[in-house]
Amino acid sequence: MKGFKDILPETIEKWHFLEKTAVKIFTHLGYKEIRTPILEKTSVFERGVGDSTDIVEKEMYTFLDKSGESVTLRPEGTAGIVRAFIENKLETSVFNKLYYIGPMFRYERPQKGRFRQFHQIGAECFGIKNPAIDAEIIYINTLLFEKLNIKTNLEINNIGCPNCRPQYSKALISYFEHYKESLCIDCQKRLYKNPLRILDCKNEKCKIIARGAPKLKDYVCKDCKEHYTGVVECLKALNIEFIENELLVRGLDYYTSFVFEFVNNNLTLSAGGRYDNLIQDLGGNNICGVGFALGEERIIDILDIKPQNSIDIYIANLGVTLYALNILQKLSDLQFKVYCEYENKSLKSMLKKADKLEAKVCIIIGENELKSSSCIVRDMKNSTQKTIELNQLENTLKGVLYAT
Ligand code: HAM
Repeated sequence: MKGFKDILPETIEKWHFLEKTAVKIFTHLGYKEIRTPILEKTSVFERGVGDSTDIVEKEMYTFLDKSGESVTLRPEGTAGIVRAFIENKLETSVFNKLYYIGPMFRYERPQKGRFRQFHQIGAECFGIKNPAIDAEIIYINTLLFEKLNIKTNLEINNIGCPNCRPQYSKALISYFEHYKESLCIDCQKRLYKNPLRILDCKNEKCKIIARGAPKLKDYVCKDCKEHYTGVVECLKALNIEFIENELLVRGLDYYTSFVFEFVNNNLTLSAGGRYDNLIQDLGGNNICGVGFALGEERIIDILDIKPQNSIDIYIANLGVTLYALNILQKLSDLQFKVYCEYENKSLKSMLKKADKLEAKVCIIIGENELKSSSCIVRDMKNSTQKTIELNQLENTLKGVLYAT
């Protein structure tokens, strides 16, 4: 299916590496995992993400379920987590730093780095007004990219809040109205509905026009200014480099003041920001939030790690399956990584397979070995082999596997 991809065993180690690295960072910093349903009521996203956004207008997988209720495959994680936060009264819980990993769905035109099912790793922090938490979110990203050995540019901006943005929107509308005919069709539609989005249109003509547009920094209110300045101060204290990009706006409506993107080669790998009104907008109390999400596919695509050999020992079973199972059990109890063959194959083809699996040792067993409670241990590196009694197996294997 277009835009839907199988994740095959060849790349799975990269996925595990990325997710394990992220989970390690989250747990070291006191974040707890949250898992919410993939399907939510459509209104969660209409009210959360915003009904004039591209996501809600064009990209949602929405359908009626058997009871006639409109439901949507989640296009992003934040709105559903806020819904869960409100419903489960998590504001009374000590766990207000949460992380999540999972699939998201957007009906977009598939292209490089853009899929219809994709995976995000993200975090959301609730009830912390201090700009230091925004900086902590940024720090998590820089730490992760450092561990993944991926270079990124951090771009940040202050996009204001519902107090100051309307005046700015008005100024943008009167500026862009002069260039209406030259804007792309999408931006002509955005002009009165969501003029901020024109600022990050990728169309070359729109980009040139946007450069001369009024700057939000001249319109932001005192609170937004103070918050943003506070984040900048924290980033400097953490020695995190950033670029202030006044044209950076986000494709989701819930953001207030601080927003950011981590960009590599013109592709945004991770993005997020503060959303101080979202919880209230979705029916909760006046609690603020900040978070981010990264696109796993975009990172896997550029992640350069050497695949680890997945097994230590291959059991070449020449028709003695019960004996092979006993050996498998013994080796697994001893914490060796082991692959056992059960199908009738020639020794030659089994050795080939052991080689492909990059096994370090091959244990060969047939009728003779079964009768004498022994096995042949073959060192795959130098193709030497010897017969040993089963009770010598652990020591022999350790000798071969851990020899320097
Ligand atoms: P977003 O910018 O829509 O933000 O998505 C975050 C990241 O997900 C993007 O930077 C990109 O790496 C990846 N991504 C988005 N769409 C696709 C796609 N179609 N195919 C592949 N990757 C994609 C959010 O989703 C917000 N919920 C982030 C957030 C969390 N803000 C605050 N908390």
